[in-house]
Amino acid sequence: MKVLGISGSPRRDENSERMVKEVLSTITCETEFISLARKKIGPCISCLGCIEDNICKVKDDMSELRQKIVAADAYVIGAPNYYSMINGLTHCFMERFYQFRHQEGKGVSGKIAVAVGVGGRNGDPVVDNLKTFFQYNQIECVGAVSAQGVANCFICGYGETCKVGAVHMFFGPGTKVNEETTPSLDKQPEKLEEARELGRKLDARLQGFAAAT
Ligand SMILES: Cc1cc2nc3c(=O)[nH]c(=O)nc-3n(C[C@H](O)[C@H](O)[C@H](O)COP(=O)(O)O)c2cc1C
Repeated sequence: MKVLGISGSPRRDENSERMVKEVLSTITCETEFISLARKKIGPCISCLGCIEDNICKVKDDMSELRQKIVAADAYVIGAPNYYSMINGLTHCFMERFYQFRHQEGKGVSGKIAVAVGVGGRNGDPVVDNLKTFFQYNQIECVGAVSAQGVANCFICGYGETCKVGAVHMFFGPGTKVNEETTPSLDKQPEKLEEARELGRKLDARLQGFAAAT
């Protein structure tokens, strides 16, 4: 049994990645973590080149991920909330699962997954997007966690005065930017525990699969 953890954030070592790794940390079977940061993954171009063999013909970094996706028994996918939806990089990654849809979804259907969303306010829209994605691909979502990341407006230098920024929008005008107000996963131990619990749940399901085979 193998679990593939994927962070769809374009940033390494940030909130999506940390939450995905938190889920993976309680999984006892083999795990592999992949960050999509700096990977070149374009959208599905609807060329139908994958119809006969379930292999996408677009040549970019998705090609090297395909084998890992097919080989995994379960997925932990985490991504950031951009404009109240999943970020573009992860969306491109998801679109390219179209290659697995033909001839009864060979490659991913019947597998299980955990959805992880983070956002300056929250990761709720991301979790919704991932759940729909899993459903379309006949991947069972065994659980989801949404946590608060940190909007760049807390570090850009203009956060306190910018009227269109996340500090004003999410936390209200007059909010000071300091250590106390800046969100952090460390301030959400319950979310980190929720993530670890999802790892245990996924693990238990995989143990069941292993025993049945
Ligand atoms: C282009 C862009 C749009 C964003 N839009 C939203 C948003 O609509 N809602 C929200 O809660 N956070 C939003 N954020 C904040 C990110 O979700 C937040 O910084 C998150 O921690 C990023 O994930 P990461 O830390 O894993 O990179 C946005 C960030 C960027 C860069």
